[in-house]
Amino acid sequence: MNECASEFEGLESVDAGSIIGRRIVWLKETRSTNDDVRRAAEADEPEGLVIIADVQNAGRGRMSRTWTSPPGMDILFSVLLRPKASDLPKMPLLSGLAVARTLDKFTDVPITLKWPNDVRAENRKISGSLVESGNSDLGYYAVLGTGVNVNQDASDHPEIAQIATSLRTLNGKTVSRRDVMRILLREMNNIYVNPENMSRLVSDWSARLETIGQEIDVRWGDELIHGVAEGVDDTGRLLLRDNE
Ligand code: BTN
Repeated sequence: MNECASEFEGLESVDAGSIIGRRIVWLKETRSTNDDVRRAAEADEPEGLVIIADVQNAGRGRMSRTWTSPPGMDILFSVLLRPKASDLPKMPLLSGLAVARTLDKFTDVPITLKWPNDVRAENRKISGSLVESGNSDLGYYAVLGTGVNVNQDASDHPEIAQIATSLRTLNGKTVSRRDVMRILLREMNNIYVNPENMSRLVSDWSARLETIGQEIDVRWGDELIHGVAEGVDDTGRLLLRDNE
């Protein structure tokens, strides 16, 4: 791995006593930070590792989509966690809620969530997470890979201008990726290490769910399911009411 000094230098650890961010690795370029963290997990790395990259050559989104971001503009990172098995399904919600709370501190525009893992502003996507899990000698692990559009200008890319936004687009000025990252790791840690916050994660996340009461289509494998979004259950699964 080509570790680098970058704009993020100085953010080697977040706060004493935190789990998330107790080891942070910055890469100039990689294929996918999710792959890097997965490899570390399989090699028995303790939870809390964060790998962040300036550029990903093979960044992945959900449903086999690619995740692209211009070099040095946005935040692209993955976190290794080893949660108890019953908390594994909640991991996408953890990322989304922490990102939403972080973005609240950088913009007055309301930040909403869309199941399972989109963070949105002004009806456009500003962040997404890809959570992958596995089982190594140390037990279950989850890789929480998150992309946050910080300084990219979505209007430069007509193919995504209607569906994506960034902090800079919302605020009209460049934002420090390091400041966003520092707060984001704290917000994630604050949820993860605190059992009370973990137990209210689903309800805190649901309070920002923008599709409650709306008719939506959800892809389930190869199937497209239509229904009215009623909320999420205790494990973070979407509850859809079938009208037929
Ligand atoms: C989605 O909305 O479809 C999920 C996007 C997840 C992108 C992030 S960027 C960092 C990490 N590495 C990847 O290859 N993907 C995730």
